[in-house]
Amino acid sequence: MWGGRFAEGPSSIMREINASIPFDKALWREDITASKAHVAMLGECGIVSADDVALITDGLDKVAAEYAADGVPEDWDLEDIHMTTEARLAELIGPAAGRLHTARSRNDQVATDFKLWTRAAMDETLAGLGALQRALVTRADEHAETIMPGFTHLQTAQPVTLGHHLMAYYEMARRDISRFADARKRLNKSPLGSAALAGTGFPIDREMTSDALGFDGPTRNSLDAVSDRDFALDYLSAAAQCSLHLSRLAEEMVIWASQPFGFVRMPDTLSTGSSIMPQKKNPDAAELVRGHAGRITGCLTSLIVTMKGLPLAYSKDMQDDKPPVFEAHSLLTLSIAAMTGMIEGTTFKTDRMRQAAELGYATATDLADWLVREADIPFREAHHITGAAVKLAESKGVALEALELSELQAIDARVDERVYKALSVDASVASRKSYGGTAPVEVRARIAEARRHLEMG
Ligand code: ARG
Repeated sequence: MWGGRFAEGPSSIMREINASIPFDKALWREDITASKAHVAMLGECGIVSADDVALITDGLDKVAAEYAADGVPEDWDLEDIHMTTEARLAELIGPAAGRLHTARSRNDQVATDFKLWTRAAMDETLAGLGALQRALVTRADEHAETIMPGFTHLQTAQPVTLGHHLMAYYEMARRDISRFADARKRLNKSPLGSAALAGTGFPIDREMTSDALGFDGPTRNSLDAVSDRDFALDYLSAAAQCSLHLSRLAEEMVIWASQPFGFVRMPDTLSTGSSIMPQKKNPDAAELVRGHAGRITGCLTSLIVTMKGLPLAYSKDMQDDKPPVFEAHSLLTLSIAAMTGMIEGTTFKTDRMRQAAELGYATATDLADWLVREADIPFREAHHITGAAVKLAESKGVALEALELSELQAIDARVDERVYKALSVDASVASRKSYGGTAPVEVRARIAEARRHLEMG
């Protein structure tokens, strides 16, 4: 393609280091689509004859059919998907193929293809996150009243509802969605027609190719357009943050599925057994989601470091932009699907959760608050009295509400029988009706809001 200036061909090392076809063949659909839009525009602007446009368009469709049927051939001499496609087009239609690259460079071509690919990846991720949200809302609705211990420092803190806990992940997914949607909006300008770096002298119509490819308009600066990879970084940073959320949910599932917790039974379909220990059911899918978050974050780091300090405009370093985005996207897609399946298919052991909240003395704060409110005791003193009650219950191996009134009064005479209302885990969660709080009425209101937002009916 550029042999005119060279006396000797590239060494085998050069061919190998230069070739991006092993990975950028994933862009073949986008490459064909963008080429068709480009040549249609060249025809419309009188730069290429109508006959040649028809010939080229038809040839591109044939190449696409071949790729779809047999895959993209990997010839390192042809470097990348752009040259591979053009070379095949020339074999199929002859010299007219050479007109396709008029008023275009691989620099604006690859930026366009990669944006189209990343935009589709964003759409796929947005759809996946929508499905995850639906699963979370559905299970939260089932468990708006289910009591479980809420934790800080992974120590039992106060009782919460399982619905409330699940809806916390709904909120994270909602922020992830807004990050991907925002990135998509910013991405959606067409680089095509920026040519190598400086634009072109041909009378092209950039609006036309932009419209044909579903962009909101052409990029405003040709130098920026061919050297910008912000859209890929935006995708990766949204993906990294999303994967962090998924890994936190995955980690909770791992903990909850462990025997000492026993809060959940994970679906068989997303678990594995042990080849030596017959009793085992391992939460491998959750562990891999937790692990993938590390790899996805690595992809982000990789592209950040690749782009750092590159002068304008295109440099070949930028060819390395694709593998991290491809990798992160496939890992994230799988992670979202795995967590969605896990949320849909997990059995929550609600008795065990309630018991853990009761025996974890999760209502100790409620007892202290009751002493302040009803017996007018200063909070510090109430805290101390409550500590003594917890100590006694713990030594007897019972819940706070299982202590006799006489036992509580022996600790402090100002306690009366009304205190039992404050000691139950149900009363505790029901009282937390502040906006965004864990009370079932409040959780149900947030679920209704989420259902409207997701148009779940
Ligand atoms: N394979 C290249 C890439 O992925 C295409 C652009 C090549 N441009 C160039 N001036 N060598 O970045």
